[in-house]
Amino acid sequence: MTVRTRTIYRCSECGADYPKWGGRCDACGEWNTLVEEVEAKTTSSRSAARTRRETPAAAPVPIGEIALSRATRLSSGLRELDYVLGGGIVGGSVVLIGGEPGIGKSTLLLQVAASSARAGRRTLYVSAEESGPQVRLRAERLGESALLVELMAETALEEILATATQATPDLLVIDSIQTIYSSELEGAPGNVGQVRECASRLMRYAKESGCAVFIVGHVTKGGGVAGPKTLEHIVDTVLYFEGDGSLDFRVLRATKNRFGSVDEIGVFRMTASGLEGVENPSALFMGDGGASSSGTAVTALIEGSRPVLVEIQALAAKAGYGTPQRVANGIDPRRLALLLAVLEKRSGLPVSQLDVFVNVAGGLRLSEPAGDLAIAAALASSVFDVPLPRASVFIGELGLGGEIRAVSQAERRLAEAAQLGMTVAYVGSRGAPRTAGSLKLSAHDNLSALFAALFRQ
Ligand code: TYD
Ligand code: MG
Repeated sequence: MTVRTRTIYRCSECGADYPKWGGRCDACGEWNTLVEEVEAKTTSSRSAARTRRETPAAAPVPIGEIALSRATRLSSGLRELDYVLGGGIVGGSVVLIGGEPGIGKSTLLLQVAASSARAGRRTLYVSAEESGPQVRLRAERLGESALLVELMAETALEEILATATQATPDLLVIDSIQTIYSSELEGAPGNVGQVRECASRLMRYAKESGCAVFIVGHVTKGGGVAGPKTLEHIVDTVLYFEGDGSLDFRVLRATKNRFGSVDEIGVFRMTASGLEGVENPSALFMGDGGASSSGTAVTALIEGSRPVLVEIQALAAKAGYGTPQRVANGIDPRRLALLLAVLEKRSGLPVSQLDVFVNVAGGLRLSEPAGDLAIAAALASSVFDVPLPRASVFIGELGLGGEIRAVSQAERRLAEAAQLGMTVAYVGSRGAPRTAGSLKLSAHDNLSALFAALFRQ
């Protein structure tokens, strides 16, 4: 006999619940906020509450006496992934890997599963998206150990959990959360209610069994499908797999991590036989090393805990008619607007009449202001059509007055630059580091002083 649980529709804004779905919540007036969920048991009468109080669930223990076994980390077999996870996979944790379709999520996780199987751990890969033969084709590309992974092509959550409970894997991969469903809910796979329910059940399974669970989640450009955003607060760790589909390397970024620091990145290259860690990301993001063309400048960013050299490319061209275009790839368009205003006002660069295109090489996203100076230098170099000095690096934040500010961890950035063959570093004079190893420091107060030195205006 199967007892069907009752489901209700709860407003994700105000929490009001309804027996039927509706487009608008009558309680708070918000549209499209009703999400299906399994109704909590309402039979907790007073007597039930009393008996519960009489049987203590778990006795408190001093934290120091809790066994650490669950927190031991296993290597994923991919150095870059271990790095992003904060030192390896934590048993009993749930990791969500988000990314656009085709970016390489299934490939990455099949590689992790292969490495786990090779190490003799019980590994279960649930493919709810692709059939067995399709997964086999991928596995053949990845090498022999991928063929050892136990595969299950299944979409029903209850079946998956039943199999997992019996097989007691050390590693469970769910590919993907949008294509599995719980039969307790009526909604179609992929809707917010289903995705949330499936994820919390998997989370409970992971905590109870100590099995590490990886979940794939798709994000679409439009953001229309219920995706990783809904899940971020349920799971332990959220990784995003990014990259330009047309380029062969990918950046894995942690945006939430209960067992490590966030903002770490791992860099991979997609090869004919799977993903390969890139040991030295700087070489990748530097283009041809800031050679002799105008409009390129190199900066040193801190990505997570490591410095990375990145090339910025700028092109300023005479605008056609109408409003000049501003196209920013890899930097915040508002930051670009601000920098352009500072350039125009504080150094007299006539950028307001020009079309401006700025590109961060390698599809990396520039999120810290330490790259300001490189963007400004690249733009000025393009406007004057004068290349910047060879093997130079630009590190500094720009203030609204055109002043060049010091940045955090300057020494580490400079050390990375020196290691990659840069010979001169342009920085702000205030708070400039005293020594820079083999690098020659060229410190300036503001943009005008810097441009005077660079372009002999
Ligand atoms: P996939 O892992 O299926 O992406 P996702 O699960 O995120 O949708 O792989 C995406 C692309 O990677 C696909 O276009 C084929 C390519 N690929 C390689 O270039 N080399 C390989 O070894 C494999 C397995 C895939
Ligand atoms: Mg896939």
